Amino acid sequence: MRVTELSFEGFRNLHPGRWNPDGGVNILYGDNAQGKTNLLEACWLFTGGRSFRGAKDSELVQFGADYAKLGMTFEAGGREQEATITIRQRRSVTLNGVSLPSSAKLAGTFCGVVFSPAHLSLIKDGPEGRRRFIDSAYCQLKPAYVGALTDYQKALTQRNAFLKQSKELGRCDSELLDLWDHTLAASAARLTAARQRYIHRLQPIAAEIYNGLSSGREDFAIGWDSPIAEAILPEMAAQWLDALRQARRADLAVGFSTAGPHREDLTVTIQGQAAKAYGSQGQQRSAVLALKLAEATLLQEVTGEKPVAFLDDVMSELDTSRQDYILNHIEGWQVFITCCEPSTALKNTAAKVFSVKQGVINE
Ligand SMILES: Nc1ncnc2c1ncn2[C@@H]1O[C@H](COP(=O)(O)OP(=O)(O)OP(=O)(O)O)[C@@H](O)[C@H]1O
Ligand SMILES: [Mg+2]
Repeated sequence: MRVTELSFEGFRNLHPGRWNPDGGVNILYGDNAQGKTNLLEACWLFTGGRSFRGAKDSELVQFGADYAKLGMTFEAGGREQEATITIRQRRSVTLNGVSLPSSAKLAGTFCGVVFSPAHLSLIKDGPEGRRRFIDSAYCQLKPAYVGALTDYQKALTQRNAFLKQSKELGRCDSELLDLWDHTLAASAARLTAARQRYIHRLQPIAAEIYNGLSSGREDFAIGWDSPIAEAILPEMAAQWLDALRQARRADLAVGFSTAGPHREDLTVTIQGQAAKAYGSQGQQRSAVLALKLAEATLLQEVTGEKPVAFLDDVMSELDTSRQDYILNHIEGWQVFITCCEPSTALKNTAAKVFSVKQGVINE
């Protein structure tokens, strides 16, 4: 996977123009607030995702402009392809000249992995972000998993509405609740099984990457925190059914479901201790990097294609050996790295260096 050209007009602070990155490592350097992250954000939108900074579409359009237009030429699936994204009140998207109903349809055509300082929340914040990370990573591997997620969400919403109504009425039709429990338990089992499977595949790769990052000094492990033990699918559904029945009294008291895959969490430990509570800044940063790079490595193993890596401000808090390890691990991938001043480790790579100043990119 390689970006060969990016064009932009009316996007954030970028001056209208086009940019031809190198097929290997690209370093974008410059003072703060010059447009380095904006450039990565523009490329990232072609993965079909939302802005990795969580920005709304209206914030992407240049102040005073009516619309933003991005174009990208890239190599994927063994051929050159091109896509455009135009952002007005809504996005319009084309791929190889054909309109797509939404930019999400670009997913799977252009694949990338992004790391930005905002992703440290993956370790630091609550479990929701970790579940989202695992779910969306697994969706890239198995697109059918999107259906399992939707089914579960629907069943959960329905059971919650029933619980809320029962609470308000002060009575509950327990036979009807049994039915909701069965539906929810069946779809819950599919989610838990898929997440556990994905963790098994991610764990050895992430551990190896973390080991390399820490020069073999630290042990790293991930796990899936769920009340449900691994088993064949019908047994897992039976376990969820039990858990729902046990939680029933509490659920009726509060008016929503207190047990389920929406309470599961990804555990991350370094040297046997929870990274969230005990990890240093550098360790937490390395843990997120290990997870992200493992996700991309697994994707590469499955699809046979190297994703593009977007590393926003990654190097600043990492020591030289960690920087070296990353650059070695992603050898052969196309990489975009932003920084204020290229470090020695970066200068030593066969990288192409670009400066970004007031929205203008120069070689
Ligand atoms: N919609 C917009 N229209 C015009 N300018 C914008 C828009 N959104 C953001 N900017 C400007 O873009 C600049 C920030 O760009 P960016 O985040 O890419 O900086 P950076 O080079 O990555 O800096 P840092 O090193 O601090 O991370 C800010 O000055 C901001 O005001
Ligand atoms: Mg930035």
